[in-house]
Amino acid sequence: MGKGRLGVRKLAALLTGILILDGALLGAAAGVWNGLSRAGGRENAYRAVHAGAASKELSETDRHREQKVVALTFDDGPHAIHTKALLDGLKERGVKVTFFLMGQSIEGNEELVDRMKAEGHLIGNHSYRHIPLTKAGEEAVCNAVEETELLIEEITGARPQYLRPPYGDWNENLECRLDLTTVFWSVDSLDWKLQDAGKIVENVEKRIKSGDIVLMHDIFPTSVEAALELVDHLSMQGYEFVTVEELLID
Ligand code: NI
Repeated sequence: MGKGRLGVRKLAALLTGILILDGALLGAAAGVWNGLSRAGGRENAYRAVHAGAASKELSETDRHREQKVVALTFDDGPHAIHTKALLDGLKERGVKVTFFLMGQSIEGNEELVDRMKAEGHLIGNHSYRHIPLTKAGEEAVCNAVEETELLIEEITGARPQYLRPPYGDWNENLECRLDLTTVFWSVDSLDWKLQDAGKIVENVEKRIKSGDIVLMHDIFPTSVEAALELVDHLSMQGYEFVTVEELLID
């Protein structure tokens, strides 16, 4: 192998390092990480440190260590038909996701909530009704969040520790009596708007990178179809699917 080729390889490794570092800085700057700032900072710090090593030489071992992970999240359910279809598809594929449940949709769908827990998915709180929480009074918000906590606890025996506010609408005054971690997202699938599985998949695939939290809704058939197609596509690209909690802890 000539000197020229080696030079190109070193340059490629250096560029890869710079790209990774650049991605980490972009990630740190993204406003959507509000509620995850501590964990996000830790991950970005890890990536930045890792990029430093990669800029010198990116060995095969390093390449294998570069794990690609993504957390799919589903809001506004459970839905008797579509959530069931999603759970069936995820079970078939051995994939774990995160559900943010709306209190008012739980009644009559207890069996689905039970399945989520039994099949290893993470269950979070999406408040009781789909209203912008900063427009409601603090007391009303806390009651709505707490009521949903209790409904889920009655079924699964555990209180959710994560909250996704409807519309991502939240401020510090709404910390409540409950010490929940607020989770936003980094990729919006726009599934509610697109209502077309192919377009949803395309929209997510052109944005996705490791460490992303993808926002979807398990109340539309097109979203469920898109989610399962995404799982199949991204698995082939080497992605692993984790819950929001696993993403934050790792
Ligand atoms: Ni929602």
